Amino acid sequence: MPAMNHWLHQADRPLIIGHRGASAHAPENTLAAFMLAMAQGADGVELDVMHCATGEVVVIHDDTVDRTTNGTGWVRKMSLAELRELDAGDGERIPTLDEVIAATAGAPRPFLLNIEVKNYATPFDGLERSVVEVVRRHGCEDRVLFSSFNPLAVRRLAQLAPDIPRGILYHHDMPIHLREVWMAPLVPHEFRHPDIGFITPEFVAKLKAQGKRVNTWTVNDRADIARAAASGVHGIIGDSPLTMREVLGV
Ligand code: G3P
Ligand code: MG
Repeated sequence: MPAMNHWLHQADRPLIIGHRGASAHAPENTLAAFMLAMAQGADGVELDVMHCATGEVVVIHDDTVDRTTNGTGWVRKMSLAELRELDAGDGERIPTLDEVIAATAGAPRPFLLNIEVKNYATPFDGLERSVVEVVRRHGCEDRVLFSSFNPLAVRRLAQLAPDIPRGILYHHDMPIHLREVWMAPLVPHEFRHPDIGFITPEFVAKLKAQGKRVNTWTVNDRADIARAAASGVHGIIGDSPLTMREVLGV
């Protein structure tokens, strides 16, 4: 059980988590975005990871590099060296998970990394095992929270790393069995990550009564940030930690 992980106990205010880093103000999922989130006073960041062709765990949202870089092609078909050639915005490179962990180490207060395992198109590619291996190598288990829209991936993470907390992601547009998290009893997890469309005080209270912690996403609108906080969520994932701090007054 992840009893020692302090992210399970923080309670006085919602955690401020930069979505893909401080992606409102820096290229998403780059070291610049993660360092800016830290500079903006975030408690941590959410980041998306997948395998590239040479097996490293790289930090990028889409299955292709087309939207976020000056290149084209499938991430899983490109080597790390090929990915390194690309400009991910403002001269930034696509980082590896290793680099993000190293760059965010040593903060006065451990900087939370909410790692979303993004192997939805290739769910049996062993990504969960690779990600756990990287986290273990750095010994940063105490500042990691895994998440996935795929309950089976969350289950695999629970088996591989029962000491690292996990969240089930869901969106109100998903099919009802995922939206209602029917698999929850089979998937050990501490967190729920519903999108902001779900959030009401009643919804959050119901999950809390089940012993779950609730982090909601992607919350950029000031009124939504205030509403999420008033509803009692434990964490807010949004593109601008700066805006979240202003609205929350912290
Ligand atoms: O983890 C929250 C959020 O990142 C999930 O959606 O598409 O932005 O990765 P997406
Ligand atoms: Mg994500």
